[in-house]
Formats: sequence, structure tokens, C-alpha cells
Amino acid sequence: MDGLSSIIELEHICFGYDAGPPVLDDLSFLLGEGEKAGLIGYNGSGKTTLLHVIMGLLTPSRGTIRVLGKKIETKKDFLEVRRTIGLVFQNADDQLFSPTVLEDVAFGPLNLGKSPKEARTMAMETLERLNLEGFENRITHRLSGGEKKLVSLATVLVMQPKALLLDEPTTGLDEDARTRITSLLNDLDISMVIVSHEYDFLAGTVQRVYSMKDGRIQFDGEAEILHVHVHRHPVIEHRHSREGEQGKSHSR
Ligand SMILES: Nc1ncnc2c1ncn2[C@@H]1O[C@H](COP(=O)(O)OP(=O)(O)OP(=O)(O)O)[C@@H](O)[C@H]1O
Ligand SMILES: [Mg+2]
Repeated sequence: MDGLSSIIELEHICFGYDAGPPVLDDLSFLLGEGEKAGLIGYNGSGKTTLLHVIMGLLTPSRGTIRVLGKKIETKKDFLEVRRTIGLVFQNADDQLFSPTVLEDVAFGPLNLGKSPKEARTMAMETLERLNLEGFENRITHRLSGGEKKLVSLATVLVMQPKALLLDEPTTGLDEDARTRITSLLNDLDISMVIVSHEYDFLAGTVQRVYSMKDGRIQFDGEAEILHVHVHRHPVIEHRHSREGEQGKSHSR
């Protein structure tokens, strides 16, 4: 890549579930250092699958993955990737597993060898950044959907990742929480891929927008420019017309 080093580089990735059709079909993508990229695409187009392939949760049948310039091949390589890149799962229940919020957020730092005191301090600071003071002793599985989403983000941010993959991070969040996440992501000087169907959120967080179609990623344009032409963008136009049909509103 000219001048800019890459954080994530995918070449000719192919993946399909079991005997099903290919979900990722000769997909190539490059996320540069410091780049904040939005990823849009229809339901079922393969966005979540792609993020799981990058993290080594799914194994492609073909193709190459490089993280920070290093080819990722072995289980050990992927364990290293998971220390470098944080994934916020689309479904918070896939992310959270400890009885209390504090235990969940402190789990990662403890796993990295921090002392219980250090891990607790890191967890409390991260919860505070997300306006979740007072949540530390809450029972994780009893949290509301939006609260779970925020705690999921906390479990990832506490690890101070070099890059972030966020799978629909604002789904179910109220306006205040979304604004807070927007400013928090803007303050983070790291690379990220944000999968979202919420175009205003993307316009406030990323510079470039890509879309997933027919198993591949294509570059759509600069987020600001696309924002101006939002109604002329085929994926978004389609989404808007479907929302119109169903009488749905995305304003929260
Ligand atoms: N575990 C699985 N087994 C079989 N098929 C799956 C599995 N997970 C996903 N799929 C299928 O793979 C395709 C891509 O799914 P994926 O979840 O990656 O889409 P997506 O773009 O993230 O969609 P959404 O916007 O709804 O989150 C879909 O057709 C889905 O039904
Ligand atoms: Mg998805």
C-alpha cells in the first residue's frame, strides 16, 4: 500500500457455511493504519461472516489474511490477532458470559496477566467512559439490550486494541448512548471497521464507506460525499424504500 501501512489485508478470501453457497467469494480488502471504514450491505450479505473470518472464528477455504503485515495461519497467530484487534459482536449475548458486569469487563485484563486490582481499575475506568458508573455489580444477563451492547463495547475497549471491528454497535441504543459512542470512537486514534445500517452514525464516525455485495467488498466513496447523496446510493435507497413500506423509522 502506498505510503500507509496496512492493519488488515485480505486477499482472495472464499468462505461458505457447510455445503451452502459461498458467502465470501474471492473477497479482497485492505484497512490502512488509522483508517476508519464503514461497511454496509443487505441483511445476509456476509458482513458478520467477514468479521468472524478476520478474527479466526471461521476458517476461509481460500485466501490470505495479513494483520500488521504478518500472514496469519496458525491457531497461535489468531490468538495474537485477538489481542491486537477487538471485535464487538452483533449479538451481545455472544460476548458476555460472566455473572456480573465488573467480572465481564475485568476478564480480558486479568487474562492478560494484570493483577486483580489493576484489572478492576481498568474495568471501572472503561465503564465510566461509557457512562456505566454504578453498573459494576449488575447481573449481566439481566441487563437491557442496549445496556448489554454498551457493556460489550466496554469488554473490548478495556483491552486497548490496536484496531476495532464493530458489528452494528448502535443497534438498540438510545440517542444519548449513540452520541456518546460516536464521540468515544472519534477520540480513538486506531483503525476500525464499523458495520452499520445507520447511515447518520457512519457519517459521524468513518471517512470511507465500503459495501458488501455478491461476496465481495467494494469501495463506495468518502462518507461525507455519500452522505450528501444518501438517497442515490443503491443499498441505502433500497433500505429506505423497504423501511417506507414497513412504516419503520430509524430515528431513536
Ligand atoms: N452459522 C451459520 N450456518 C449457516 N449459514 C449461516 C450461518 N451464519 C450465517 N449464515 C448465512 O450466511 C449468510 C451471511 O450471514 P451474515 O450473518 O454474515 O450476514 P450479515 O451481512 O451480517 O447480515 P445482517 O445485516 O443481517 O447482520 C446469510 O445467508 C446467513 O443466513
Ligand atoms: Mg451481521
